[in-house]
Amino acid sequence: MTAADRSDAATASTANEYIALEQEFGAHNYHPLPVVVAHGEGARVWDVDGKRYLDFLAAYSALNFGHRHPAILAAARDQLEHVTLTSRAVFTDQLGAFERDLAELTGKEMVLAMNSGAEGVESAIKIARKWGYEVKGVDSDRAKIIVCEDNFHGRTTTIVSFSTDPTARTGFGPYTPGFSHVPFGDIEALGEALADPDVVAFLFEPIQGEAGVIVPHDGYLRAVRELCSKHNVLMIADEIQSGLGRAGYTFACDHEGVTPDMYILGKALGGGIMPLSAVAANHDILGVLTPGTHGSTFGGNPLACAIGRTVLGLLRTGEIQERSRVLGDKMLRTLRDAGLPTVTAVRGRGLWAGIELTLAAGPARTHCETLLERGLIVKDTHATTLRLAPPLVIEEDDLDWALEQFLEVLSGS
Ligand SMILES: Cc1ncc(COP(=O)(O)O)c(C=O)c1O
Repeated sequence: MTAADRSDAATASTANEYIALEQEFGAHNYHPLPVVVAHGEGARVWDVDGKRYLDFLAAYSALNFGHRHPAILAAARDQLEHVTLTSRAVFTDQLGAFERDLAELTGKEMVLAMNSGAEGVESAIKIARKWGYEVKGVDSDRAKIIVCEDNFHGRTTTIVSFSTDPTARTGFGPYTPGFSHVPFGDIEALGEALADPDVVAFLFEPIQGEAGVIVPHDGYLRAVRELCSKHNVLMIADEIQSGLGRAGYTFACDHEGVTPDMYILGKALGGGIMPLSAVAANHDILGVLTPGTHGSTFGGNPLACAIGRTVLGLLRTGEIQERSRVLGDKMLRTLRDAGLPTVTAVRGRGLWAGIELTLAAGPARTHCETLLERGLIVKDTHATTLRLAPPLVIEEDDLDWALEQFLEVLSGS
């Protein structure tokens, strides 16, 4: 069914019905914008009434290649004709090739394929702890992992245990021990924390996404690398949101030419079709996993791997990273140069920005609703921050149009 057919079939009242269905039967763990999406293509989506929107959220960066990218769809369709799921009880003709291609992209020797981002993070935590006991020589059950204040790594009970966001954490105790915090960007505090011989890893986002696209000062990533090496602590970069082109590079760590010991990837790796996450590291680290110590029924399934390989092929040319860098520079420059009275800061790298509003500007959510009426899907993160993350395949004309909308709405005209 085409978008036009769908719009013929739908009416405004059906939009309200879809919303009512979710409200009545779904858990209320999200506060969606009032739009009912029925179709997507590239950077655009259409609602059930046929109204077109530009998607400036891209499923929190899972849609770096846009909606229904033709090459990714073709790979999925082709794999659907063969085999979709086997479990890891057998080998498949897809997993090894995916692992090889991701090892090549990350420059690492081994890969562990999982599903959601949170599972990737959980896997990295388990691997780091086991590495701590078996390789670093930390006494049993004493391993500590250093994390950052205002982190976002997912929603499992262990991960929310080390969240500093009360909304994400409160009410979900008892909490998993073994984590300590340092302020993001604070090298001195990190140096002190890593000196503890029980510390096995520093787990962090090279750019904090959910916190509001917080970019660390230049030199931070290099200093993190040096401190982790000095103290024999694993540097674990959660690049689930910042990686795969979003920040204008294959990985956000590339901005300072830094290589972590472990990459955690997810979101865009699954091409906007399948949940596909992965941990990439060398043998001396990932090799601590042996049969039975870790697993997932769906992890590394052939459908996800066929899609993931296509995504890795798209990243190999460097085209999407370049596009993110060039269009991102334009986006950030335009927003900064406008000197909007409602804006205190525009942070970002690549096609990824956090616009910090003044308190007088009113809630970020209200601006998202105004932008939605104009045909732009943008999401707030926290009360005063707008988060911009369009698909990296966005056309320049569409970006220009979106920037006009931002400037008009944020200047109050
Ligand atoms: C940096 C980071 N890590 C982990 C996650 C969790 O990923 P998922 O929602 O796929 O579990 C997210 C999701 O936003 C994220 O931004």
